[in-house]
Amino acid sequence: MARETSGLKPAAGDTRPIGLFDSGVGGLSVWREVLRQLPQESTVYVADQAHIPYGPQPGERLRAYAEGITQWLLARDCKAIVVACNAASAAALKHLRARFPQLPFIGMEPAVKPAATATRSGTVAVLATPATLRGELFAATAQRYAQGARIIGEPCPGLVEQIESGAALTPQTEAMLRGFLAPALAAGADHVVLACTHYPFVIEPIRRIVGGGVEVIDPAPAVVRQLGRVLAERGLAAPPQAVTHHHATTAVAEHYAAALKALLGVTAPVEALKWLDDARLQPRADVVTA
Ligand code: DGL
Repeated sequence: MARETSGLKPAAGDTRPIGLFDSGVGGLSVWREVLRQLPQESTVYVADQAHIPYGPQPGERLRAYAEGITQWLLARDCKAIVVACNAASAAALKHLRARFPQLPFIGMEPAVKPAATATRSGTVAVLATPATLRGELFAATAQRYAQGARIIGEPCPGLVEQIESGAALTPQTEAMLRGFLAPALAAGADHVVLACTHYPFVIEPIRRIVGGGVEVIDPAPAVVRQLGRVLAERGLAAPPQAVTHHHATTAVAEHYAAALKALLGVTAPVEALKWLDDARLQPRADVVTA
């Protein structure tokens, strides 16, 4: 006769963390979405604040940074990487996939397609860093998905710096946003795409400025849905577990910790990392702040 068991069997799945990185705190707009949609997943987040901003830097250098961070995330046993930065995705995603063929990478791409599909006015604005708008990925995405819509790229110089410095929700930032959005509004845009991961942290002032008739698109939910699909397809999704969220920065841990608290109300220890050269991140913490 079969023995009765408790009915509990070990949960299948992969308990390893997901790695995410950005030049700074912008990718936290994607990280918070991972926590919302995939609450059973552990994470490791790296802010490469020693090298911010990424946008103006040569692609070759961004690829070296991306590779160094990926190596460090692999040393922390990450099972998938989210390149939570438009500039790094444009410069390095292809390279990372070729260099680490076994590792799934999910990247950012301007959400032109959903906006161009939904627009009624026929005009869509894309807010991005000047470098992202100059890049090939933006030109290719706009051409591929515009479907006849007029795509207006609005560079927002200084906005990333404003958000990094803790001044996201200030009258000064709102005045900057008014200036950035004026041409798109004058042209009748009814969709605004946020094509920099820092910008969702100013989505509220943007919504106030553009008014109710204009849809503002934060791409993070779609990117994290894609992450969830990739994990499920590859058998990498985590079972219910006690999750851990590790944060690291290549600059000053206290500054990152303050931004994490200010932007998301999260208090967490932050590991400070050091670049040994452009491509090697010191794998051991030299400072940890509580
Ligand atoms: N969050 C980055 C992005 O999405 C900021 C760009 C930068 O560092 O220049 O592009």
